[in-house]
Amino acid sequence: MDNDSQRIRRFTGTAPEMRELAAALRAGNLVAIPTETVYGLAANALDPLACRRIFEVKGRPLIDPLIVHVTDVEHARQLADFGPEAELLMEHFWPGPLTLVMNRREAVSDIVTAGLPTVALRCPRHPLTRKLLELCALPLAAPSANRFGYVSPTRAEHVEAGLGDLIDYVLDGGPCNIGLESTILGLADPDRPILFRPGAISREELSAALGRPIALPQPRAREDTGPVDAPGMLSRHYSPSTPLHIFSVGERPEIPGRSAEPVALVFFARPDPEPQIRGAEIFWLSESGLPAEAARNVFALLRRLDEGRFSAIWMERAPAGGLGDAINDRLNRAAAGR
Ligand code: TXA
Ligand code: MG
Repeated sequence: MDNDSQRIRRFTGTAPEMRELAAALRAGNLVAIPTETVYGLAANALDPLACRRIFEVKGRPLIDPLIVHVTDVEHARQLADFGPEAELLMEHFWPGPLTLVMNRREAVSDIVTAGLPTVALRCPRHPLTRKLLELCALPLAAPSANRFGYVSPTRAEHVEAGLGDLIDYVLDGGPCNIGLESTILGLADPDRPILFRPGAISREELSAALGRPIALPQPRAREDTGPVDAPGMLSRHYSPSTPLHIFSVGERPEIPGRSAEPVALVFFARPDPEPQIRGAEIFWLSESGLPAEAARNVFALLRRLDEGRFSAIWMERAPAGGLGDAINDRLNRAAAGR
């Protein structure tokens, strides 16, 4: 990547840099921020024009609402109405990779919620972003810092590759520790919590903390019609340009060979012995076979394999359950529509 032609500046979080970023956010500019899940493209959530810029830069349709990042429960209270159930989950899981969709308050503008009566709030754990939230003293609207529909960024260089010509700043907080977007739980009706998006905090953990079952959203009849309940549910998302196929654990994929370029064959865990397959290069998501390691690697590997060397990517599903379900959710969406 030739960074000279880029407008973006990469900051590492020195005190003067943090002050500059806080001032930039207060002035209505965009800043890409590190979180424990993925990098976000942040703007002052109380400034509708700044939030509109997020949609322009990402190429994101205005019907897809943004997540608002807050410092703590007190700040959440200024943006949403919620009861003891939400409070209990915030105490349990914040700061951390849990987004709660709750009934919004006046302070939240329509552009953030895409006109929905609810707002999605999350309190991130990454220390640099916590510091920045404190310094700017604003709620920050931040979707993942990628062009709409592409693979989410888990390193500062991913943000630079996708948005380097379009934004001024990325705060480099190192590779994201979790590597998959937050769990999204719908709590607008606390009697009927809904898991809108699986993530590092599992449905089982949420259910145990709340003491009630967590429903899954109704599948939508048609992809692109009707009101948007949880637009994160768009079935095609997170997609590399190279065709992606997924196969089940233990299955031997039927790779149609004879293409000029090789295919990338990605196993969940390091295969031992490494298979020799003509026309395929072998990769794996995890040395250890642990889902947390695979989650950390999956988006970075998809991006690397999408640089044009391969005619197709074949990727093995994660073992079901917990974080494996979140990985498989992203793989299903990345492969959808092929
Ligand atoms: O981990 C994360 O959540 C990352 C980091 C940056 O915090 N953010 C993220 O944002 O993944 P984004 O925009 O890529 O995904 C947010 C999802 C979208 O699919 C959006 O449709 C959904 O949250 N969402 C936002 N507000 C909503 C609402 N009021 N009701 C239902 N879904 C909502
Ligand atoms: Mg996203």
